[in-house]
Amino acid sequence: MPSILLFGVTGLVGSHVVLALKKKYPNFPLTVYLRNATIDTYLRATVGVSRIEHGTYDEVERIASLAKDHDIVINVGSSWDTGLSEAIVDGLSKRDSGKKTILIHMSGTGNFVETRWNDGATHAESKIWHDDDSEDIKLINPKMLNGGPDTVVYEAGKSGTIETYVIYPPIIYGRAAGPVSALGIIQYFMHLKVKELGFIPYIGDGTAITNAVHVHAVVDFVMLVLTQSLGEDEPQKSVYERVYFIGGTETPWKNVSNWFAEAFFNLGISGEKKARSVTLEEAGEGEIPMLMSHDMRFTTRRAEKLGYGGNVESEQLREFLSHGSNIFTA
Ligand SMILES: NC(=O)c1ccc[n+]([C@@H]2O[C@H](COP(=O)([O-])OP(=O)(O)OC[C@H]3O[C@@H](n4cnc5c(N)ncnc54)[C@H](OP(=O)(O)O)[C@@H]3O)[C@@H](O)[C@H]2O)c1
Repeated sequence: MPSILLFGVTGLVGSHVVLALKKKYPNFPLTVYLRNATIDTYLRATVGVSRIEHGTYDEVERIASLAKDHDIVINVGSSWDTGLSEAIVDGLSKRDSGKKTILIHMSGTGNFVETRWNDGATHAESKIWHDDDSEDIKLINPKMLNGGPDTVVYEAGKSGTIETYVIYPPIIYGRAAGPVSALGIIQYFMHLKVKELGFIPYIGDGTAITNAVHVHAVVDFVMLVLTQSLGEDEPQKSVYERVYFIGGTETPWKNVSNWFAEAFFNLGISGEKKARSVTLEEAGEGEIPMLMSHDMRFTTRRAEKLGYGGNVESEQLREFLSHGSNIFTA
């Protein structure tokens, strides 16, 4: 049975991935690496993981050594921590040659913001990135939002010893599973932003395009990629073709901001029911103003060919925020 090492088990995505792994592959030995020492009983007794390792992502020697002992690594812990990806790759590359070795890395479509404009408006000339165009994937570089780890993973995939898969989601919304109520990166950052400003902003006219996907659709796709990779004796295609973008409907930031604003207002977290148009400077620091200021456009054709079914129809972001907004007070 192939063994799996999972990073990110207490996060929005990882909390679901661990359950999906045990459901689909109950007999695969599953190790989780986490710094939270309070949920071991849940992980062992309820989920059924075989091994728990406590540590942080800066313990690179331990991570490399653990990766060396596993057939499959799934990193839904960090798309920003280059050292973590280097450690994973270092360990996996030291495995016995001839052993099938898979790395599934979750990155993010924040890489694909259109940097020519930062006025919060959409532009007809904005680049549209395609997951089935290898020339687009070759443009990914360390200067992009998640580009450091991505580059490490692509270089490892090129070496041929590790079968790498990289998945790019946009805003992920939804609830975490299990005892830790993780908001996930973007829901967390929006919560921080409303607490910082007292309202939810958008930049300029707010027509800049963004995109969102429900966590269930993300996890289903991770499982699809894993199943596909396990079915192959040899890595298929080039490293630039084992890359998938997933998402939902293109949406202007003004809409997304207004949905979050209403949710925070209804919860008493902010006094303003509508999002406010501001300049980039007035939106403050961090990733959210950066994302809000640019178009981010992409297609999901390669993912669809693999079987990606799109976002979860019944729970689009607006509906989720109006009915499920109590995640912010849990
Ligand atoms: N959520 C989104 O909107 C979104 C969008 C695009 C891409 N992504 C990417 O998708 C992946 C999963 O996202 P997510 O929203 O599920 O993330 P998340 O909820 O923030 O979870 C991150 C996980 O990594 C762990 N972690 C972070 N830093 C650590 C460290 N230094 N040492 C040990 N553990 C550490 C966290 O542990 P603790 O519980 O101990 O903090 C948690 O289990 C990430 O790579 C993210 O960048 C997310």
